[in-house]
Amino acid sequence: MSGRTFLFLTPYTRTMSSIGNVHLEYISHSSAQELPEADQALLMAAHEAALRAYAPYSNFQVGAALRMRDGRVVTGSNQENASYPAGTCAERTALHAAMAFDPHGVAETMAIVVPAATAERPVTPCGICRQALLEQEVRQKGEPLRLLMAVPNGPVYEVRRASQLLPLAFDGSFLNG
Ligand code: THU
Repeated sequence: MSGRTFLFLTPYTRTMSSIGNVHLEYISHSSAQELPEADQALLMAAHEAALRAYAPYSNFQVGAALRMRDGRVVTGSNQENASYPAGTCAERTALHAAMAFDPHGVAETMAIVVPAATAERPVTPCGICRQALLEQEVRQKGEPLRLLMAVPNGPVYEVRRASQLLPLAFDGSFLNG
């Protein structure tokens, strides 16, 4: 046993622990037909965008379509690189294209589709994309960015607020003070 004192504990007099909980609510729609027409169109746009992916390394094509408050739809697909980390996911391609075009834009709904997915559940965004989507909600002052995630002939998952997918997240509030 080492004789080192655990100094970190010494300044604290209270030792009561507590358990926190995070709540994630998602809706599983049995098919896209359960959704309003505008959402079905967005899912179609994401499907088509996936077919424009550059994914020679993974052969895993992902499409994203983002509907902005002004009605504009911006699409993106994954863009890979021989140096793997240099590649970009579909979600960030679409989000950053939209915001580069209109820095004050409000992103309302993003559809994410993997046309060739073999799993019977939708593909959900990776951790880096969750961080980027959360930042967008900060950027648009808490206005929710809703997500629709789908695979063909499978259920569509809906999350009303993208930041719900990243509990206990790191954000800019830690940097300013
Ligand atoms: N990918 C996306 O574009 N979005 C996701 O939500 C998951 C993963 C891409 C990254 C990479 O090009 C390929 O899918 C395999 O990971």
